[in-house]
Amino acid sequence: MRKNIVAGNWKMNKTLEEGKTLASEIVNMVADEVQDDTITILHPPFVHLSSIYHLVKDVPNVFLGAQNCNENASGAYTGEVSVDMLKSVGTDYVILGHSERREYFSESNELLAKKVNIVLENGLTPIFCCGESLEIREDGTFIDFVSGQLTESLFHLSPEEFSKIVIAYEPIWAIGTGVTASSDQAQEMHAALRNHLASKYGTSIADETTILYGGSCKPSNAQELFANPDVDGGLIGGASLKSRDFVDIVKSF
Ligand code: PGA
Repeated sequence: MRKNIVAGNWKMNKTLEEGKTLASEIVNMVADEVQDDTITILHPPFVHLSSIYHLVKDVPNVFLGAQNCNENASGAYTGEVSVDMLKSVGTDYVILGHSERREYFSESNELLAKKVNIVLENGLTPIFCCGESLEIREDGTFIDFVSGQLTESLFHLSPEEFSKIVIAYEPIWAIGTGVTASSDQAQEMHAALRNHLASKYGTSIADETTILYGGSCKPSNAQELFANPDVDGGLIGGASLKSRDFVDIVKSF
């Protein structure tokens, strides 16, 4: 059985004190209210990771994640953060290839393949983001486009390596816009991606791969989205900054 995951991507929001308050509220609500084995991941900014680790470390099924990492192991890369450093402060997951990083920091599929490698080498779990722009959605080539992102950044992995990957499908036109993909649009893409994975790694690995949906997911639409057979949870931006909303999403399976 693949895992259900709800991950909160805080992006560049919250001071340390605000972040600690948010994390404490989430952890308490999850401990009281979430009975199933859904995995909750908090992805605060780098500088908060160490403090927030101490709030989540003893709570079952709650983990710490980063929003990015550098593709090199160490060295003269001013301002960058290595996977080794992330691991040393208790991080288990790393978001890679978020569309904001692809767009504003020119991250290519080729660069992301290197980041995937170094995250796996260090024993952390990549949450690999993919998704199409509105233009590609409208010209009808969206399944080929997103499948291509997976091929170019992930298909060099061995089956054993690939089985550690979590995928997040995030249509760019739905991120932070309030426009969510419909339940049918999400299911169509997730099923297509799972078929694409099966064509490379076989159906059993494809069936075990967690594929999250992201893009204006909120308490009012999470249940419908997560009810789809191929949607295994969400990568949540805006709604992850409010503890009540975020935990309500975690409870939406
Ligand atoms: P959103 O962001 O939930 O605010 O649309 C999702 C994301 O960027 O991961």
